[in-house]
Amino acid sequence: MAADSSNADSDVVFPVKFTHRLRFTADVLGADQSVLQQVLETGEDTKPAMQFWVDEAVAAANPDLKQRILAFCAANADRLRHPGNIQLVDGGEAVKNDIHIIERMLKCFNHADLDRRSYVIVIGGGAVLDAVGFAAAIAHRGIRLVRIPTTTLAQADSGVGVKNSVNLFQKKNWVGTFAVPWAVLNDRQLLNTLSDRDFVCGFSEAVKVSLLKDAEFFHRIHAAATQIPQRQEACWPIIEESARWHLKHITEGGDAFEMLEARPLDFGHWSAHKLEAMTDFDLRHGEAVAIGLAIDVTYSNMVYGLPHDQAEQIMDCLAQMGLLLDHPVLSRTDELFRGLEEFRQHLGGRLTLTMLESIGRPIDVHTVDHEIMKRAIELVVERVKHTVN
Ligand SMILES: NC(=O)c1ccc[n+]([C@@H]2O[C@H](COP(=O)([O-])OP(=O)(O)OC[C@H]3O[C@@H](n4cnc5c(N)ncnc54)[C@H](O)[C@@H]3O)[C@@H](O)[C@H]2O)c1
Ligand SMILES: [Zn+2]
Repeated sequence: MAADSSNADSDVVFPVKFTHRLRFTADVLGADQSVLQQVLETGEDTKPAMQFWVDEAVAAANPDLKQRILAFCAANADRLRHPGNIQLVDGGEAVKNDIHIIERMLKCFNHADLDRRSYVIVIGGGAVLDAVGFAAAIAHRGIRLVRIPTTTLAQADSGVGVKNSVNLFQKKNWVGTFAVPWAVLNDRQLLNTLSDRDFVCGFSEAVKVSLLKDAEFFHRIHAAATQIPQRQEACWPIIEESARWHLKHITEGGDAFEMLEARPLDFGHWSAHKLEAMTDFDLRHGEAVAIGLAIDVTYSNMVYGLPHDQAEQIMDCLAQMGLLLDHPVLSRTDELFRGLEEFRQHLGGRLTLTMLESIGRPIDVHTVDHEIMKRAIELVVERVKHTVN
């Protein structure tokens, strides 16, 4: 008898459980190495392999790093194998712009016989984390990835996330996967060698998440804004709180793998992504996000009732951190507006942007009035000229 088609078709909804391990350390390869040790779980009778991948710039700025890694491996040799050498990779966007580097990473994993219970431990900026993370996600359909981010941006935002990617067809993040990292270790000491410019960058993402989630957090960042370029004590709780908000959004927000149309964590990013490309990556991601926030905050004031004094506080906070809210390419608005369509395309479906009704109260919107947006951009630029002169 033919099967009843209503029984044959079955749409089964099933949950999959993941564990995301986030830790904060002050010296992960020294005094706090037990934190790393503890996340590297071993089986009863197996001895998993671990392979370290390090951003070249981080290795160059920390001449004793290799020695410290080798000492860690030696101290854990009874429970973890360390096949192959420590692998160095170019830092910054270069590593994401050459797809052949991924093949070389896969060869290294294969050469070391890494399997799905092995650990790929990557120490570096967001770009290196993205590229090594992508290779680890596709090898054997997923080798355990331990991220040790070395920029404020990666510690406050991307390193905690569940995405990885490299660039292809001259498009950012065109190829990649969603993959939950095995663990993320945010180490304070590793930020010491970061340039002043890169150090400030990550805080624009902290401002972003505070505007979406918690007005009080925003006011705390604002109060500490001038201390950030000086790397004073106030920086650390802000990075930690930002990372925790990002983690909470991913794990409790109901859309870890971005299946829905809204992407609130991309507030201010439609223009930021485009500005990065329009400046040939002269603007860092965090700098572009600061400008993107200023634009969407001004637009939110003009269209969605964000109070003027709140919009001013936000821009004042970003400026006090030392983030410049202007760039000559902002005059090329037609090109910039193509960023809206690219933003839509990346996710598919209808355009969905996040705007603000007030600090801590985001809304989803589906249309943009180009004339008003153009005026918002002009106002941001005029404000910078006015405050600088
Ligand atoms: N996966 C995601 O969800 C996600 C989210 C946002 C951004 N990103 C990606 O992250 C990348 C940007 O990452 P980033 O802002 O961390 O910068 P980055 O990785 O480009 O690093 C900036 C520069 O600093 C160097 N560097 C890094 N740490 C250092 C240290 N401690 N000491 C000295 N030099 C150091 C790097 O080698 C590089 O030259 C972009 O490719 C962006 O697309 C990914
Ligand atoms: Zn971002």
